[in-house]
Amino acid sequence: MLIQSTLIALSATLAAAVKPLTVKNQFFVDPNDNIFQIVGVAYQPGGSAGYNAALGKDPLSDGDICRRDAAILQILGVNTIRVYNLNPDVNHDECASIFNAAGIYMILDVNSPQVAGSLQNYNPWESYYDTYVNRTFAVVEAFKNYDNTLAFFSGNEVINDASSAGQVPPYMRAVTRDIKNYVAKHCDRKIPVGYSAADVRDVLFDSFEYFTCAEDGKSDDPSRADIFALNSYSWCGDSDMQKSGYVDLVEGFSNTSVPVFYSEYGCNEVKPRMFTEVGAIYGKDFSQVFSGGIVYEYTEEENSYGLVSVNTKDQSVTLLKDFYTLKDQFAKLDWKKIQGVKSAKDGSGPKPPKCDSKLIQSKDFDGNFTLPAMPPNVPKILANGVSPKPSGKLIEVTNFKSKYTVKNADGSVISDLAVKPLSNDESNSPGTNDAKIQSSGSVTSSSGNSTTSGSSSEATSDAKNTSGAAGSAVAMTVPAMAMGAFAIFAGLAL
Ligand SMILES: *[C@@H]1O[C@H](CO)[C@@H](O)[C@H](O)[C@H]1NC(C)=O
Ligand SMILES: *[C@@H]1O[C@H](CO)[C@@H](O)[C@H](O)[C@H]1NC(C)=O
Ligand SMILES: *[C@@H]1O[C@H](CO)[C@@H](O)[C@H](O)[C@H]1NC(C)=O
Ligand SMILES: *[C@@H]1O[C@H](CO)[C@@H](O)[C@H](O)[C@H]1NC(C)=O
Ligand SMILES: *[C@@H]1O[C@H](CO)[C@@H](O)[C@H](O)[C@H]1NC(C)=O
Repeated sequence: MLIQSTLIALSATLAAAVKPLTVKNQFFVDPNDNIFQIVGVAYQPGGSAGYNAALGKDPLSDGDICRRDAAILQILGVNTIRVYNLNPDVNHDECASIFNAAGIYMILDVNSPQVAGSLQNYNPWESYYDTYVNRTFAVVEAFKNYDNTLAFFSGNEVINDASSAGQVPPYMRAVTRDIKNYVAKHCDRKIPVGYSAADVRDVLFDSFEYFTCAEDGKSDDPSRADIFALNSYSWCGDSDMQKSGYVDLVEGFSNTSVPVFYSEYGCNEVKPRMFTEVGAIYGKDFSQVFSGGIVYEYTEEENSYGLVSVNTKDQSVTLLKDFYTLKDQFAKLDWKKIQGVKSAKDGSGPKPPKCDSKLIQSKDFDGNFTLPAMPPNVPKILANGVSPKPSGKLIEVTNFKSKYTVKNADGSVISDLAVKPLSNDESNSPGTNDAKIQSSGSVTSSSGNSTTSGSSSEATSDAKNTSGAAGSAVAMTVPAMAMGAFAIFAGLAL
């Protein structure tokens, strides 16, 4: 009897472990009115191949895999995952509910490398049509009811050079407008929508100004991005604020009117990675401007950014050296203090600049603020909602134990691995799940020798060289896991 009522009491709280975050001034704010710093990891096991339409599979479709990974990510200490490539028509209820119970938010890309899955960076008007826009709306429908849905990315690195900067901006702002209008009309809460930029310094700040300004100077302008993020790989090895160019980012975004954060970081030019940037990102100067960041990436794929390696034959996972290093860097920080900064009064933050071509520095950048109209048929879908609606909902999770084996780098098995469900209002932080793992000092190899899930994913093998951008002093390697593939697939689609 006692046991039973305890179970009921426990399960009653499970469906609501995290409460939705809101945006106040230029920050995310948690239910206790504290400014929320994203401590994230990019989550796309299998790379682009992690999405398989024929098998009805995407990174959030298999509860057993999510249980395994949510437990590992809890141990690492993160509170957010970013997922790039989702199928709106598969059921995500169990995975979303597991991550929710684990205190982990989700930032979701609405795009996909599938045909009609993204806006192209070349001739974008050819890819802006009803089937594509409907897809972005369908992802919103699929994830809008989960309390741990943190934000949607309307685009990822679609502007990455002078040529794309000359064509894409009005289309990208139009896609953001359409998704924001859909959220306003069909969601119970204001889920933020924004753009994830390539850290190509020639176009970065123009993109930032272009997407975050307000056409009439009013912050509720429907085409203005609610958030702005960048994929930044300029801190390599044991770097510092100056050498990495981080100082220029803090300065460049210092007047932001929306939350700014790293949607990817973790340069791997120097291996094993040291993740000394973690101390900088959550340090005082940085966190007065930025809202944290997302480490690229959870699984080891062909481009070698993995924290863990997955054996796709038996779904066992082996932790890699970078996992232990990153965990140690997170554990060094005082999270009570970092996540305990009270929000300022709403409306007291920097005001958005009024959209004006004067905001744009580069001659190559299309700073036209007259946006393309919605494509034919889209106004109807926007008015009536996606049909049929693939909406999900949080469900009760009772099983938290990982079905799959998880091993330390030395091959020893981590026993009793399970998600530790958190209570209401809590998000995950280092130390919450204190499952015993190997001590980092004894980890030598930087890559496991198990079969990885790297396979033949074309999306994960390309490491783009974006340092060619003139005037950028810092070499940056952008995995562009999603973007590389988007461009390839979108090109083929025509
Ligand atoms: C819109 O998306 C839904 C969900 O994926 C799909 O069932 C429907 O066929 C799509 N409609 C159009 C017009 O593309
Ligand atoms: C931020 O605003 C201050 C005060 O208006 C201004 O002096 C400064 O140039 C601005 N910085 C940037 C990067 O726009
Ligand atoms: C701006 O875009 C609109 C809509 O595409 C177009 O009609 C107009 O000519 C453009 N203005 C300039 C100056 O290019
Ligand atoms: C790695 O290789 C060693 C020696 O061949 C083997 O004993 C060990 O089990 C392997 N580890 C994994 C995780 O496969
Ligand atoms: C990247 O591009 C720059 C400029 O085009 C070039 O100097 C550099 O050698 C390239 N690096 C790699 C690794 O290809």
